[in-house]
Amino acid sequence: MNDQLNKPSSSTGMSRIDGRLKVTGAARYSGEFTPAGMVYGVLVGSTITKGTIKSIDTKAAERAPGVLKVITHLNAPKIAGYQVEPGKPEPAKGTYKLFYNNKVLFNGQPIAVVVADSFERALFAASLVKAQYNTDPHHTSMQDNTGAFAPGGDGTTKRGTVDAWKTAPFKLEQEYIIPSEVHSAMELHAIIAKWDAEDKLTVWTKTQGVQDTRDGIVSIFKLPKENVQVNSKFVGGAFGSALQVWPHEVAAILSAKVVKRPVKLLLGRADMFTSVGYRPYTWQKIGIGATADGKLVGITHEAVGQTSTYEDFNEEPIGVSRSTYACPNVNTIYKINPLDIGSPTWMRGPGEATGAFALESALDELSYALNIDPIKLRLINYAETDPESGKPFSSKYLNEAYKLGADGIGWDDRKQKPASVSKNGWMVGYGMGGGMFGAYRDKAAAKAIMMADGTLIIQTAVSDIGPGTGTAMVTIASDVMGIPADKIRFDMGDSSLPLAPSQGGSSTTATVGSAVYQACTDLKENFQKLIGNGGTDKPDYAAVLKQHNLPKLEITVDSSGGPERDKYAMYSWSVHFVRVLVHPTTGVVKVDKVVCVADSGHIVSPKTARSQIVGGAIGGIGMALMEEVIIDDRYGKLVNNNFADYHVPVNADIPQIEALFVNKPDPYINPMGAKGMGEIALIGMAGAVANAVYNATGKRVRELPITPDKLVGMELELS
Ligand code: MOS
Repeated sequence: MNDQLNKPSSSTGMSRIDGRLKVTGAARYSGEFTPAGMVYGVLVGSTITKGTIKSIDTKAAERAPGVLKVITHLNAPKIAGYQVEPGKPEPAKGTYKLFYNNKVLFNGQPIAVVVADSFERALFAASLVKAQYNTDPHHTSMQDNTGAFAPGGDGTTKRGTVDAWKTAPFKLEQEYIIPSEVHSAMELHAIIAKWDAEDKLTVWTKTQGVQDTRDGIVSIFKLPKENVQVNSKFVGGAFGSALQVWPHEVAAILSAKVVKRPVKLLLGRADMFTSVGYRPYTWQKIGIGATADGKLVGITHEAVGQTSTYEDFNEEPIGVSRSTYACPNVNTIYKINPLDIGSPTWMRGPGEATGAFALESALDELSYALNIDPIKLRLINYAETDPESGKPFSSKYLNEAYKLGADGIGWDDRKQKPASVSKNGWMVGYGMGGGMFGAYRDKAAAKAIMMADGTLIIQTAVSDIGPGTGTAMVTIASDVMGIPADKIRFDMGDSSLPLAPSQGGSSTTATVGSAVYQACTDLKENFQKLIGNGGTDKPDYAAVLKQHNLPKLEITVDSSGGPERDKYAMYSWSVHFVRVLVHPTTGVVKVDKVVCVADSGHIVSPKTARSQIVGGAIGGIGMALMEEVIIDDRYGKLVNNNFADYHVPVNADIPQIEALFVNKPDPYINPMGAKGMGEIALIGMAGAVANAVYNATGKRVRELPITPDKLVGMELELS
């Protein structure tokens, strides 16, 4: 453990190393490169939801000005990775295969790509492609396809007695629904594909992992791994939408091959709703029971999430009920419902965010039934060891987080009796909700190079989707090496650099940070060996290099967790506190104050950590109050695929958000003692808002989002 790193963080911390590049527009995102000879691809989507393409007329598009090629399933070159061995059956499920056959599996599915010499010409020509279909009946709503439920992964489990909650003196059973939500990152997905030779490819693409995207492309196109170069230097948000190779990327790579020119393909905002996944609509039911003094007797948590017909997506939202609180009897049932829609994917807090809305709502409902303060109820059922594995936690200071948050929001002002406080004509309520997420550490490598002028270069293939990875890595390197941040350069977003996993699952700082820490520690040691006796804690690296006549000194290290993961259960925790104002006539909910507390080990980079928590909290407020994908089930078509009709929070919706950190290092997870916080920033927030709305109004909304129509018509009596 490095003492330097485990001192309490300063309240401010380093500003983003790439902040100036980003705000001045100097940072170049994946759609912002122009290799010589580049042309433009635009996708054509199916206008039906299920069926087959009878015929497709591309003639008018091909004759349109500037058009180089129109590719459909009829003329697309065979994609090696899609092909099934002769004699073998087609796999029943798998990722979507672009232009593979004439089947239409969801509305807006790409049926053609038009390549032209300008974006505008490609877009116009795409409008001229006309298909005739044989249409089959479709199912796009959970409610009309209940006969097709399939088991969801390993989500059906039991610990202790099944349905034990039913035997408890205090109990309730309720259903909770979350609609589909989309990631809605500011940056649109974009790719530029350029073939450098017959089997050699360079792409610039929006991805959370340049090496995972490289490996995905290698497996789809069957190319030598060393021949595929993926670049993604800046990513303008992703939230899980850039963790796989999507059809539009395959389309760009394929068309670049056909037209023998680099091809840029940029998704529009409407495509972002249908082409890069979403958080699946999920129905849940929780039965929960406790003794009169608040001890949990049992929880039964059932969930059904939507998926596509061609791919099983399991995010197991029921997991939170197994691990969050000490409870002897927990059983879960998880199913998926295949619908004629594109596949869902991971979205910030995947599984846990959905599950925690139900669990944290149910616990709040129980607290009123028992007349026990919601924080007290959670403390009565505080898990001192992991209820699922029985292992000790590597670290857990959630009880301190409760206290920090309660003090921050002014929990003492809350009245247990709902709908009992009003101010200036608004009803006032307080709510809280907790989150947890596994604290992971994967394998990673990093190269550290000390240059003759004393500049340190750190290299690793990680992507940064926005949390400020470079800033955190430079902070770690600066602390270990004892040199200022402005003498450090951090290279990333390039698949040829040392191993790094995708930025996902809140694991980057713990994973890549450990590799950077180790590389810097080893490099410094090598300097100290050169210096011999009399070495100091802060060597003058440039002077040592000069003295030994060395142009530079470099080292590459591999890093991974050790056996500690077998001994300890590793999680990050959060708790969110919310004060809301609800207008009794209009049902409008204003979030008035938010305090979020994270227990995620040592805080490496306080300023970017704060941003991370604030961003997640805002995402959670959107989930609670606004976000909802609406499909017109008659046509299977998404109707609110734009930011006018799909609402996300804007500045006017968000109060000052306070982000607090317990900031105590985890002694086992990695040398920094740092755990992830990307997911826990959002997990639990929707429940906290719903619980605050109940406290304000006495009205329990169990179906998100909590829009005014669900609150108007209340017989609210202001005291
Ligand atoms: Mo995420 S859903 O870990 O990008």
